[in-house]
Amino acid sequence: MISKLPKYLAIFSLLWVLIISCSPQHQQSTFANAGPVAQQQSNLYYLMFWIAALIFVLVQGALIFALLNFRRRERPIPGSDFTVPDIPPKQVHGNTKLEIIWTIIPALILIVIAIPTVRTIYQTYQPPEDSDPLEIVAMGHQWWWEFRYPDEGIVTANELFVPTDRPVRITLQSQDVIHSFWVPQVAGKKDTVPGNTNVMWLQVDEPGNYSGQCAEFCGVAHARMRFRVIAEEEADFNTWMEAMKTPPKMDTSEGYGLFLAHCSMCHSIDSYNENSYEKELVIQDERWDDWYFNQEESVRVSAPNLTHLGIRTMIAAGQKDLTKENLITWIKDPSEFKRGTRMQSVASVYKGGPAKLEDYEIEAIADYLLAQIPDGWGVVKSAGEAVEEEEMLVWNSAKEHGEYLFVNQGCAGCHSLNENEVIVGPSMYGLVDRSGDKVSGLSAEEYIYQSIVYPNEYIVDGYPANVMPQIFINLSEEELQVLVSYLITIK
Ligand code: CUA
Repeated sequence: MISKLPKYLAIFSLLWVLIISCSPQHQQSTFANAGPVAQQQSNLYYLMFWIAALIFVLVQGALIFALLNFRRRERPIPGSDFTVPDIPPKQVHGNTKLEIIWTIIPALILIVIAIPTVRTIYQTYQPPEDSDPLEIVAMGHQWWWEFRYPDEGIVTANELFVPTDRPVRITLQSQDVIHSFWVPQVAGKKDTVPGNTNVMWLQVDEPGNYSGQCAEFCGVAHARMRFRVIAEEEADFNTWMEAMKTPPKMDTSEGYGLFLAHCSMCHSIDSYNENSYEKELVIQDERWDDWYFNQEESVRVSAPNLTHLGIRTMIAAGQKDLTKENLITWIKDPSEFKRGTRMQSVASVYKGGPAKLEDYEIEAIADYLLAQIPDGWGVVKSAGEAVEEEEMLVWNSAKEHGEYLFVNQGCAGCHSLNENEVIVGPSMYGLVDRSGDKVSGLSAEEYIYQSIVYPNEYIVDGYPANVMPQIFINLSEEELQVLVSYLITIK
């Protein structure tokens, strides 16, 4: 008995693991249904489970009955000590009636399962007619999720905001390989397939956070390709949507410049601007093509939109909570949280290793990103918090102001002031002499101004479009004038 103890313990532990893995308390449990689609899928599961359980009991019961009743027995010969073996039972073969019965019964069971299955497939494909679904495009990327709101012109990543009690139609796409969209408590799974569009819908009953997970092996960081569905009451959802269209407070901190210089080629932060939606779609494809067709040399690749990152709850596609400490670790060395990120292998600031930045610079970028909060956001929610006094900057001359903007707005990260030196974009040396005759009818000042505000309007020969961030339109008119006046003095 003692010697069998380890065996029993092992079996018991295994059963225990199996049982607790079904706990509805787990955030990715398919038993804690939070919406009608998950409920329908669950119903189907329970129907099949109980039919299978019934068949199991009947078949095992018949087996046990036969084992006990028809087991081989020795019969005593009356009046002697001898026994004789049981006479073998009558052998039957090819009982037509029985064979018909056990063919029909499974066929009936399959029909009972097939009808609700096919119905559920159709019901979970499109939202109910006469409903007014929110349209979302979910795009799988290695290894993060892009969420687009085409009707609202919003692009975000890894956190899908939805209103409660309203169907959400999700168009599933992929830019690279097959992924699978799965929010266990709400709906799923359905694959995102490159070059093909799938559709599904979901609806969340109660406000809250619902954990999502890529459910198709898609490469090294597949298990870390998570996301979160954040369901809010309609009014709160609308507040979020409006907030996403509101610019943050203009930030001219050092972190802004560093972000523009090192991060902005891949990460957009301006979903609040007019037409930024169409632009983001084009740029995201260009970033991808850039990398895909020249993986050796490309310094950009498709990447999550970071607009208003400060109001998100997680970073690194759901790996960690969004805290300053985590954000710094993430920027410093992404492989701490997630091995295999394209960010680390592609961006020049990493090229496969930790960021080539000083600690204070990384902190400045983190501060800048955490400050990406829509203007006015959280005023009601955190009314008790002290508002930091804004530092007033004073300039001794327009040139000093221009110089400050040039550095702190990030221009200096890509444009050198030295003759013929190329960092990313053209040098600013002698700009005024080259600008006057670029476009007929435009003075040098006008040409420079246009090029800052609309970077793709006039592209200098030999430089690609869409590399310069299209966000300087948010500078004030005065700042733009100061910057132009400064730039024409560089020679
Ligand atoms: Cu994407 Cu697994």
